[in-house]
Amino acid sequence: MQKKLIICLFCLMVSCFIPNNFAQAAEKWANILVFFGTSMPEAKLSLDALEKAYAKEYDHIIIAYTSDIIRNKLAKQGKKFLSVNAALNKAAADGYSHVRLQSFHVGAAEEFYHLQRAIVKNLTKKPSRFKSVLLGYPLMSSGQDLYEVRDVLLTSFPKQRKNGEAVVLMGHGNHHGPGDIMLYALGKALQEKDKLAYVAAVEGSSTFAKVLVSLKKNKVKTVWLQPFMVVAGDHARNDMAGPEADSWSSQLKAQGFEVKINMLGLGEIEGIQNIYLRHTRDARDDFARSKKSD
Ligand code: CO
Repeated sequence: MQKKLIICLFCLMVSCFIPNNFAQAAEKWANILVFFGTSMPEAKLSLDALEKAYAKEYDHIIIAYTSDIIRNKLAKQGKKFLSVNAALNKAAADGYSHVRLQSFHVGAAEEFYHLQRAIVKNLTKKPSRFKSVLLGYPLMSSGQDLYEVRDVLLTSFPKQRKNGEAVVLMGHGNHHGPGDIMLYALGKALQEKDKLAYVAAVEGSSTFAKVLVSLKKNKVKTVWLQPFMVVAGDHARNDMAGPEADSWSSQLKAQGFEVKINMLGLGEIEGIQNIYLRHTRDARDDFARSKKSD
């Protein structure tokens, strides 16, 4: 009796999986990795590391940069990068019937909305060009992400950090939109495990001024600055660690703190790459398979 049941279950499993595998093999998938982009070679390390991590699991990779400014700047240096629209057009022209896009934004905020709009605009022009269009969500999209990112960050802090030394992460943030809540939540989650770990942002309500107040209250003497951005690019090298009087490093030094820098892009951290890979595996089709009510 039990044996029969096992055989039945086995047959059911086989009948479920085999046709699927055949169907998948026949489908042509393009994998579009969507970055904001960077024009700094030393910051591009992060994007290259992400691309390398993806190349281990996916082939037919197409890179897209969402930033018009960066693409134009690179074009003048003879380096051509595709927009999301151009990447989708290339996938279609190359004969791919299915596309999988992964957003390498930190949160579902301003830049992620631009990406979604670019996909919708492209598909509106030619609605039936792809059979499926999957989109993997940004790094911090769920409660699970929040705690996983927090735990990965805790392991990314410099080994040389001593007791009583603080770490301040520089996020980007937005003056409007939901990017703000995400950084606030990360700051709280970090403090549950590390009282001297802070998150502040270039834009939005998680200001550096608030962190300064807390650093003084906690009688901190040494502060490590570390980016919380996919690349350690312009913001990290200038607004965070640069020599100008208004950089975070200069502000801290002017107030008597010792400053140390941990220049590291999120894309370089294996634990972060793995969260993006999970998002790609869980990517949903929010575009090609629209609901009747749309
Ligand atoms: Co910016």
